[in-house]
Amino acid sequence: MSEARHTPRVFSGIQPSGGLTLGNYLGAIRRFVEMQEQGIETLYCMVDMHAITTWQEPARLRQATRELAAGFMAAGLDPSRSILFNQSQVPAHAEMAWIFNCVARMGWLGRMTQFKEKAGKDREAASVGLFAYPTLMAADILVYHATHVPVGEDQKQHLELTRDIAAKFNHDYEVDFFPLTEPVIEGAATRVMSLRDGTRKMSKSDPSDMSRINLTDDSDAIAAKIRKARTDAEPLPEAMGGLDARPEARNLVNIYAALANTTPQAVLDEFAGQGFAVFKPRLAELAVTELAPISAEMIRLAGDPGQIDAILGQGAERAAALAEPILARTYEIVGLIRSRPR
Ligand code: TYM
Repeated sequence: MSEARHTPRVFSGIQPSGGLTLGNYLGAIRRFVEMQEQGIETLYCMVDMHAITTWQEPARLRQATRELAAGFMAAGLDPSRSILFNQSQVPAHAEMAWIFNCVARMGWLGRMTQFKEKAGKDREAASVGLFAYPTLMAADILVYHATHVPVGEDQKQHLELTRDIAAKFNHDYEVDFFPLTEPVIEGAATRVMSLRDGTRKMSKSDPSDMSRINLTDDSDAIAAKIRKARTDAEPLPEAMGGLDARPEARNLVNIYAALANTTPQAVLDEFAGQGFAVFKPRLAELAVTELAPISAEMIRLAGDPGQIDAILGQGAERAAALAEPILARTYEIVGLIRSRPR
């Protein structure tokens, strides 16, 4: 029997290293919810072990992990339909990552742009974990034989590496064991840009809070950030091509389209010829309508950390049960003896 069963299974993760941004929400979490609604088996993980590849204050990490779980649920992820858990509670991720550390090559990891960006000039001072980050990410995905991974554009290179690791493992051990996972990078907001600079990604690590919308921002903050977002003096064009040299304008149109669940062209059909004095208040109104209920629910859920920890524990239990046979078979393929009673 071929080992390549690979029924559809979705996995994705978010780092609890600071609050959630509109980029995380539109690029990832909304897709997570859509896939849950399609009735596919879905696992969504707070990747706390990835977070500690750069320094995290322990109390803050715990809080950020719980807030992220609250954000997931407030946005519509349902722990009875999706498996929600934090990575460190399922040791199979780390165990599989070690195997993949021995499959992936130094050269592959050295080419990862996220590593280069995060390590900066002083690579010698980066943690070994930051360098090996992508092998743990491959393990997150492949320890469940996940077939689809919804992410924003910035994770594309890591997912290509995940496929390279799966292919090399299958080749080296002459098996057809790991699936070649498909990235799912879809929608109008796969790359939400900074509100201050349309050429930079919206990011939780940007020093300027005005550059991003946080899921915890209240209505006044959201409206103020959109009002002050950098734009230009031109009216909106009739076609997307007219936004090619206008990254800030294009970003706001994409955000509008994603929030309204429509296409950027449909937004231009509505607003062509109008300036930002008209468009920005409408965008602010839409953003507040969509985000304020999520933010309120997130705060409510975060008020009961005991309940969140219980949900994460139950999710981890279910995740571990799915990972265990795949890890056991991997050990067997590799030639590692696993005879301890469990
Ligand atoms: P992280 O925590 O940086 O981001 C989580 C998700 O949000 C997306 N995202 C964005 N999408 C659009 N526009 C933006 N400005 C924006 N900023 C962030 C990211 O693409 C991502 O989908 N390495 C991952 C976490 C991870 C993971 C995994 C993901 C660990 N293991 C396994 C998928 C599968 C990361 O750092 O995401």
